[in-house]
Amino acid sequence: MTFKPKIELHLHLEGAAPPEFIRRLAGEKKVDLAGVFDERGSYDYKDFEGFLKVYEAATAVLQSPDDYGRLTRTVLEASREQGVVYTEAFLSPDFCGGRDVSAWREYLHAMQEAAQSVDGIEMRGIVTCIRHFGPEKAREAAICARETAGDFVTGFGMGGNEAVLSQADFAWAFDCARESGLGLTTHAGEFGGPESVRDALDTLRVTRIGHGVRAIEDLALVDRLIEDDITLEVNPGSNVALGVYRDWAAHPIERLRERGVKVTVSTDDPPFFHTDMTREYDMLERTFGWDDEVFRAVNRTAAEAAFCDAPTRAKLL
Ligand code: ADE
Ligand code: ZN
Repeated sequence: MTFKPKIELHLHLEGAAPPEFIRRLAGEKKVDLAGVFDERGSYDYKDFEGFLKVYEAATAVLQSPDDYGRLTRTVLEASREQGVVYTEAFLSPDFCGGRDVSAWREYLHAMQEAAQSVDGIEMRGIVTCIRHFGPEKAREAAICARETAGDFVTGFGMGGNEAVLSQADFAWAFDCARESGLGLTTHAGEFGGPESVRDALDTLRVTRIGHGVRAIEDLALVDRLIEDDITLEVNPGSNVALGVYRDWAAHPIERLRERGVKVTVSTDDPPFFHTDMTREYDMLERTFGWDDEVFRAVNRTAAEAAFCDAPTRAKLL
């Protein structure tokens, strides 16, 4: 029996789409998904760049607010099954109406309505820009975030290929989001090394880092994460599946936690990595001996770092 209730802070909505969901929608819309699935019906990729390509190809079947509403419902029902009571999902204006603010509002309305229809789990949206799409598109995504910031959209973030451009190239988008009162997070220290995490802190002034695990390669940076009260959204199963670490035993989550870094546990893109929150918890228990006391502390850390209002946080604590 894994620990419940769970809080998840790092989940890409499209990346949580079950393969069957994408295949059904592709059938309805007559979209060709050649190369997206392997012979067993799983998402098919060999490395991170291949993963990003397959992710974007699968996302191409999501073409309307209604599709995103259906996806939101499916994803939240699956998360609730795992004992998740609160989740923050990355939502992409790039895929939802091409960063047009009025189209984005319609997609968002469908996602919010779907989220409210699923009892027993709360969701908040982190509007995300995509690094390899470049700073101009990020600027438009930030404007979508600014125009819809509120009870449901509570954060702004960046995913995508960390090898492309630098964190600083996206400072305008993050400044805009900060001025709109949004919580800030960016992917760093996943495929990039400690310097990428440092850049994120210096130039984007985020309070959370997506992954951040490669900070372990620079202990002065680890000290800074502690001093600056930064929370890491760690996705161990994702890191192992994408080859950042060779296996669970090599993953630094326990070393980071032991040193005093605030770590939380999420799944990133669960069906792509053949994982879910129960498997992540089981593997942490099996690999590092985490018990209910550790899981309780990790979920408390997640509640404290959540991009939600005080009454919602109080219910999670
Ligand atoms: N988008 C979806 N999953 C991602 C990951 N693990 N890293 C960067 N961008 C992503
Ligand atoms: Zn991610």
